[in-house]
Amino acid sequence: MDSRPSHAHELVGRTILVTGANAGIGYWCVEKLAARGARVLLGCRSPERARTAVDAVVTHVPEADLRVIPVDLGSLDSIRSAAGEIGERLDAIICNAGVKTARPDARTADGFDLMIGTNFLGHFALLAQVASLLDDDARVVAVGSIAHRFARLDPDRLADPWRGSSLRQYGRSKAALMAFAVGLDRRWSGSALSALCAHPGYAVDPLTAPRPGLAQVPAPVRALAALSRPFVQGKDDGAAPLIHAATSPEAMSGEYWGPGGMLEFRGAPARVTASDEVRSPATGAALWAAAERMTGIRFPA
Ligand SMILES: NC(=O)c1ccc[n+]([C@@H]2O[C@H](COP(=O)([O-])OP(=O)(O)OC[C@H]3O[C@@H](n4cnc5c(N)ncnc54)[C@H](OP(=O)(O)O)[C@@H]3O)[C@@H](O)[C@H]2O)c1
Repeated sequence: MDSRPSHAHELVGRTILVTGANAGIGYWCVEKLAARGARVLLGCRSPERARTAVDAVVTHVPEADLRVIPVDLGSLDSIRSAAGEIGERLDAIICNAGVKTARPDARTADGFDLMIGTNFLGHFALLAQVASLLDDDARVVAVGSIAHRFARLDPDRLADPWRGSSLRQYGRSKAALMAFAVGLDRRWSGSALSALCAHPGYAVDPLTAPRPGLAQVPAPVRALAALSRPFVQGKDDGAAPLIHAATSPEAMSGEYWGPGGMLEFRGAPARVTASDEVRSPATGAALWAAAERMTGIRFPA
């Protein structure tokens, strides 16, 4: 599949950081943004997997302008180093890196719950430390999930041990990241900076165009998965709402974009609605304070 769209090169001059860029939806954000001329910074924790992703992008977009930023979103030290290393102006950041399932005792390097620590606190810490690099009209895109509706978000209990469904804790971590973006939108009102949420719907590897070194799916699995195409989509298509939120003049600060099809599982990007809890100013403010307290990092005014 050729990633080159009809509007190739319209993003020349823009620099976009994508976290979790070496696999899945993050990879597809990189390939598609590079095909449109953007300079893309790949935030990845593994140099080997980052190299594989870069090689795959270049195979399809030979003129791609790419740079790898080593960053482990599960380590405040690593995030601090990455933020110090970037040293260039950013037009957008897609907060995509995510852990989707974990055991209750799984922890980040700093002792946070793995999903809350990586998906939310890691991106909070990254954004706080690269805020000075953002261009005047930069955009931040928080990658949410339909699962944000599956959990209550109690900002004062983010550090509490959890039991039961990993999906619920995942949903909580995604709700927290989304509420952070909603809070950023409020904080940035009156400026040209934008903060949005976006989600990829239900996006799976077997429906995704193959790329060398990325998720290898046996042909029989691919053939069987084709039957599910009316309901779900590939990660290549799942990247579309994220890219739309990061680049389209149509997408505005404070909005939430996802696939417009049935149950938001698949389809072209459309405006969707986040839960009341994610949009609540009180929850957002409490969450913000909790993130600063837990990470010890103050978000710059
Ligand atoms: N797929 C879906 O249907 C779906 C639905 C809703 C939301 N989402 C969200 O979309 C995003 C991407 O999902 P996906 O399906 O593409 O997942 P994926 O294929 O598992 O890719 C996840 C990416 O995040 C990276 N990552 C995980 N932990 C990290 C850390 N500590 N530091 C840096 N990078 C880290 C992974 O890097 P490694 O290779 O090093 O592990 C990988 O590049 C996630 O935020 C997910 O919650 C996905």
